[in-house]
Amino acid sequence: MQARSFKVTIVMTQSSRPMRYIFTMKRAHTALLFLILGIVLVPAVGWLYLHFGHPPVAVADPMLPGEEQIARSALLARVDEERPRNNPVPINEATLQEGASIYMSECAFCHGVPAIQSSVGVNTFPKTPQFFRRHATGSRPPDLADRAASYHWFVENGVRLTAMPSFKHVLTDREQWEVANLLAMSETPLPESVKKVLAGSTD
Ligand code: HEC
Repeated sequence: MQARSFKVTIVMTQSSRPMRYIFTMKRAHTALLFLILGIVLVPAVGWLYLHFGHPPVAVADPMLPGEEQIARSALLARVDEERPRNNPVPINEATLQEGASIYMSECAFCHGVPAIQSSVGVNTFPKTPQFFRRHATGSRPPDLADRAASYHWFVENGVRLTAMPSFKHVLTDREQWEVANLLAMSETPLPESVKKVLAGSTD
């Protein structure tokens, strides 16, 4: 196909009005021009913003518009899709106690204990959800087994670009389930012996 250049039609009127230029462009040319502008301009503006603007980087900086919604919905969709379905740990007093001692050594530092919120956790971005009290984040399916499975996903995989670590290589799968079961029960009344562990008692 033959490449065509812009066709410029110059119309000179007989009257005293100034010369009128009428530019006619084929639609394909217009589209191409905008495409090139888009390819060049959009990254250029992004680069300028990152270098000279003030993108939010500190914990206390305001969120970008839609930041939380975009990150949160992608995360929760992934958790719902991938949560494991083979919980090998029955929920009973003994296994909840095991979960509670893992929680105290690995998680309480950020996620707090029933009596005290973590001063570290409330100062991370995003904030670390404080368990054993209502909090707004997370995948919280109404069914207990699904809830434990969702929490297992978080423990195993962690959450990228947040303080939440992956415990895949830190805890055994059984230990991950024990602590996930505990958290799935964390908004319901727990046995006294489990509450004692969560209060820091070692006997
Ligand atoms: C260094 C801090 C830190 C430690 C230690 C930590 N977490 Fe987290 N955790 C986070 C943060 C931050 C989030 C929020 C991530 C987000 O906003 O998506 C989180 C999210 C979660 C969630 C998602 C639940 C919800 O309601 O949003 C679960 C479940 C969880 N953590 C379990 C654990 C368990 C179990 C342990 C210990 C084995 C643990 N975490 C240790 C910081 C931590």
